[in-house]
Amino acid sequence: MQETNPFLLNGKRVLVTGGSMGIGMGIVRRFVAGGARVLIADKATEPAQKYINSLQASLRNNVAVINVDLTEQSAPETMITEMVRIFGGIDILVNNAGIYPMAPMMEMKPELFDKVYTLNLKAAAFTCREAARQMIKQGTGGKIVVIASIDSIHPSSVGLAAYDSSKGGVLMFTKNFALEVAKYGINVNAIAPGGIATEGSSLSSPMSKMSKEEIEKITAGFIAQIPLGRMGLPDDIAKVAVFLASSAADYMTGSLVVVDGGRLLM
Ligand SMILES: NC(=O)c1ccc[n+]([C@@H]2O[C@H](COP(=O)([O-])OP(=O)(O)OC[C@H]3O[C@@H](n4cnc5c(N)ncnc54)[C@H](O)[C@@H]3O)[C@@H](O)[C@H]2O)c1
Repeated sequence: MQETNPFLLNGKRVLVTGGSMGIGMGIVRRFVAGGARVLIADKATEPAQKYINSLQASLRNNVAVINVDLTEQSAPETMITEMVRIFGGIDILVNNAGIYPMAPMMEMKPELFDKVYTLNLKAAAFTCREAARQMIKQGTGGKIVVIASIDSIHPSSVGLAAYDSSKGGVLMFTKNFALEVAKYGINVNAIAPGGIATEGSSLSSPMSKMSKEEIEKITAGFIAQIPLGRMGLPDDIAKVAVFLASSAADYMTGSLVVVDGGRLLM
């Protein structure tokens, strides 16, 4: 019989990297509201712990947080071991953790370039691999959602050469890995967010050092470039992540879904 609501995540076991803040936390909130059980893996655990404490008692056991620095080579294995220990396995991975430091290439230090690639591309790839290994062991397929960027397909500003190339890489990784694991019933898709108001985007922006008036002026200019007339919110990305992680997306793999308020139309 056809399911009545293909977007349900009831009981699904989900790992969200970088889920303590920003887009990751938006995704955690949506998934928990949809009935999923979620492990947040982040190097900053305090905001996640605060969120868990704020949940009603019946939901509190559905969410856990672990302290992981994803740039450590052991991180992917550690996260999956914890998923198995806490929830008995993994059905969905949301690969979200990423950094976007501004540094023009002409001034780029090799160490910073490595840092961006290690987190945004290498950690993402090996976390996908570790999650897929566990999904294959379970034999019931799975869903992997990778948070890429509109910068995976179009540069948004000078200063993001390392970031943009890491996100271009993660898009092509998504497509190739989707090909590799399709035979196991594992769907791998990516989301390309546009400008989303998060803790990270306000801190890394040059605006963090500006006056209130300057910020308002620049924000208005930025919004003028967005046909839907506003910055994105973490929940705008989270709702699409729910779609890609649910059975509604069973026939999608290797796709990139752009969620940018129309920014790339300009
Ligand atoms: N905000 C945007 O406008 C935007 C646009 C396009 C794509 N994205 C992508 O979305 C993702 C999330 O961005 P955001 O704006 O929510 O960021 P954010 O900085 O607000 O949150 C990122 C989270 O990842 C965690 N994290 C960072 N480095 C980590 C590490 N080494 N190990 C473990 N956890 C780590 C942080 O502690 C934080 O909780 C990133 O991949 C980013 O590239 C963001």
